[in-house]
Amino acid sequence: VEAGAEWAAEVRRLVKLRNATILAHNYQLPAIQDIADHVGDSLALARAAAAAPEQTIVFCGVHFMAESAKILSPEKTVLIPDERAGCSLADSITGADLREWKAEHPDAVVVSYVNTTAEVKALTDICCTSSNAVDVVESIDPDREVLFLPDQFLGAHVKRVTGRDNIHIWAGECHVHAGINGDELTAQVEASPDAELFVHPECGCATSALYLAGEGTVPEERVKILSTGGMLDQASQTAAKKVLVATEVGMLYQLRKAAPDVDFQPVNDRAACPYMKMITPAALLRSLAAGADEVHVDAQTAHAARRSVERMIEHGN
Ligand code: 13P
Ligand code: SF4
Repeated sequence: VEAGAEWAAEVRRLVKLRNATILAHNYQLPAIQDIADHVGDSLALARAAAAAPEQTIVFCGVHFMAESAKILSPEKTVLIPDERAGCSLADSITGADLREWKAEHPDAVVVSYVNTTAEVKALTDICCTSSNAVDVVESIDPDREVLFLPDQFLGAHVKRVTGRDNIHIWAGECHVHAGINGDELTAQVEASPDAELFVHPECGCATSALYLAGEGTVPEERVKILSTGGMLDQASQTAAKKVLVATEVGMLYQLRKAAPDVDFQPVNDRAACPYMKMITPAALLRSLAAGADEVHVDAQTAHAARRSVERMIEHGN
């Protein structure tokens, strides 16, 4: 299927027929981003899903995102164009793992990144995304222990910014972001010493970026640790001619559109999420035509998970 004018017209026709809305994550393919009703980061899309007046949500992203939309709006039909679009980070902790961890810290507050399964969310006090993780942790009584999961790099970032030493961090990672390493970042910074850095907190190189700032290789004000939505806001404000971007490469499409005069370059041009890229133009069309793949979360799990996801969308800008 070519993502041409005919494809776009057919997608729009079916969207109207189904009283649907298309949500697309910033890492989606350009054709998918262009046809979507809302494009954004995990937090913005969760909010858009909760507020959508349409009966059907077509979630062009990965499975945990579609699941979160279903948890927030159980009465709506939630479709994902390919249900095999998983997430290596969400796979790094199971419900059984979390039950065991909680038993070791019975008084701790459980903060889960939204990149988790519904089962894990059901065992969570409050969810967060990369754009509000710091706000969420700061809202918790400083005397309470926190279990932060599953991403170790985001956890380290939150620990650093909040200065809390009572945070326990799960050792999970996203294989795409963990693969953007410090050596690659250092080499790119040396080759472009005037560039600004946009670094997603899930990256293995987030600590290296701060280290480079600490030793004066890059001025501190040029290192920005941001969610994908935060990168987009920053793109239109930056005075830099060149920005090195450490995140999944799909993000570059939005950044270049937002600030065409800035030269955005990936720190690692192989950092593509294979799950995000399963949502092809053909898959989207099939999804709308067939009403598939429908996302189901069993009622009990959804009920138990809802409060933690609702608290997430109330935090941060
Ligand atoms: P954000 O869009 O919330 O920054 O998340 C990045 C991500 O990896 C989602 O899978
Ligand atoms: Fe999951 Fe990483 Fe892909 Fe995001 S980029 S969906 S965290 S595997």
